[in-house]
Amino acid sequence: MSRSERKWDHIRFALENRQNRSTVFDDIQFIHQSLPNSNVSDVRLNGSIGGLSLSSPIFINAMTGGGGEKTYQINQQLAIAAAQTGVAMAVGSQMSAIKDKHERYTYEVVRKENPDGIIIANLGSEANSENAKLAIDMIEANALQIHLNVIQELTMPEGDRNFTSSLNRIEEICSHVNVPVIVKEVGFGMSRETVEALFSAGAAIVDVGGSGGTNFAEIENKRRNQSLPFFNNWGIPTPISILEGSSVSKGIPIIGSGGFSSSIDIAKGLAIGASAIGLAGLFLQTLVEEGLDALIQKINTLHMELTMIMTALGAKSIAELKKAPVIISGETYHWLTQRGIDTKPYSQRTIK
Ligand code: FNR
Repeated sequence: MSRSERKWDHIRFALENRQNRSTVFDDIQFIHQSLPNSNVSDVRLNGSIGGLSLSSPIFINAMTGGGGEKTYQINQQLAIAAAQTGVAMAVGSQMSAIKDKHERYTYEVVRKENPDGIIIANLGSEANSENAKLAIDMIEANALQIHLNVIQELTMPEGDRNFTSSLNRIEEICSHVNVPVIVKEVGFGMSRETVEALFSAGAAIVDVGGSGGTNFAEIENKRRNQSLPFFNNWGIPTPISILEGSSVSKGIPIIGSGGFSSSIDIAKGLAIGASAIGLAGLFLQTLVEEGLDALIQKINTLHMELTMIMTALGAKSIAELKKAPVIISGETYHWLTQRGIDTKPYSQRTIK
């Protein structure tokens, strides 16, 4: 099967395979404030993360490109939505365009449609610093994502089987490119040990990309003759992964992604330590099934609802939302307790 056909398979199966909302987000509860002393018009969603100036904490996470006309059209429409709503956008892995220059236009369209926006390049951890520079230049990227996708590769019939030296290559890329490097998972989460190793290697930002959303084990299992079913339930759920990462981040920004589908879950992800939240599957589904206007409307609605939630909590900024007191219970509490991560500070802090 060609790389281009595989890209389309991923889109098709991601749409067919939409997950139900992960209930792990229910483990995080805000404490209601009857006197928030706030005003909707004072709430600001912008912020700065790892050297990137974002007008919103919500962004369109990496999906596609490199699969000819169909992926060109999806990237074009995602870029128009990003430009009109002011959100950042990552493209899908650009290795196909590095290997075949005829695929470049499927990525370049993103910069064409959004000349002034924050656009993020994307490669896998097999890439070297030369690949990284080409990917960044191709779309005049403001940052580079390097994705880690061991479980996807193992489940993919034609996937990689050798995962040695990834951290060395990431370190090399971080020291050779002149934009912030974001290392991300694709939906299996990261432990605090992984996050620590990535920050030591020079990553400017880590996107923990937890489980609970698009499931690349299920997608690749659909493409296999003999399934590897044990990978379908593999991984660290997104809220737990954000909390693991935050426990060691020492002020270096964490991004949360994997399974976000509502403003309340986005607010929870930010409150427990993420500085931005990436959405892929939900935005793809909205675009393909309902069209570009619906996607723009969806992003605007998420912004409006997040503003309402922040007003209710008395948080004027994303920095203040990260101080909102929350109760952490259930599976998440159990996990963190076993890992020696203290949940009490989250319930006892205040915004003021
Ligand atoms: C992805 N994702 C992805 N990630 C990446 O770093 N490079 C890539 O090329 C792709 N390709 C891709 C294709 C499709 C069709 C989807 C839906 C997703 C993963 C994506 O960025 C994200 O990490 C996961 O999808 C989890 O987030 P959601 O979908 O649960 O919001």
